[in-house]
Amino acid sequence: MKNIVVLVSGGGTNLQALIDAQESGLIQGGKITCVISSKPGVYALERAKKHQIPARVIPRKEYADSVAYSKAILCALQEEKADLVVYAGFMTILDELVVKAYPYQMMNVHPALIPSFCGKGYYGLRVHEEALKKGVKLTGATVHFVTEVCDGGPIILQKAVEVQSDDTPEILQKRVMEQAEWKILPKAVSLFCEDRLEVKNDIVYIK
Ligand code: GAR
Repeated sequence: MKNIVVLVSGGGTNLQALIDAQESGLIQGGKITCVISSKPGVYALERAKKHQIPARVIPRKEYADSVAYSKAILCALQEEKADLVVYAGFMTILDELVVKAYPYQMMNVHPALIPSFCGKGYYGLRVHEEALKKGVKLTGATVHFVTEVCDGGPIILQKAVEVQSDDTPEILQKRVMEQAEWKILPKAVSLFCEDRLEVKNDIVYIK
């Protein structure tokens, strides 16, 4: 059984999608053993508590820089014996020292079709604001492995979502979550836990 550690910073709807998938038996071969939040008091922590999942808060604000923070996260991941680390709305970029310790064992859900609207500064609602500004007719979500390049790691799954002419960033965000993120994140986690993901030359193959 693989230990899944989920990193969060906010509302935790993607964490909820993972919990729901786990409880309906959709994630074979893995279990969410810990939730780590970069912020105290966020609703994601309530979700973990409701489902008796151990949670830790490691506040980003208490660390001087990214390296110091990343060392604290790495230490926690090692203590939790993580086999898979999932960024589920985790809004902090970690230093490569963490990524190097977990090669192709960390995944992130991003609310756009990478390589569009991604990279440093593209997170949360901002991604949907930019998609609407550009007038794209299709957007979506991507689950990818985390590497030292922000949002640049090998793509595991993607799902497209149509943009409507009267969308606001909030409405589009909700549709992307419902139709794409909450579906592909549990699926990607499940594939990983069943050892069905293989990376060759930066391309993910599903076995
Ligand atoms: C989600 O839309 C997630 O894709 C996005 O933040 C939201 C978090 O929601 N993540 C990023 O933008 C990371 N670059 P949640 O806390 O309800 O899961």
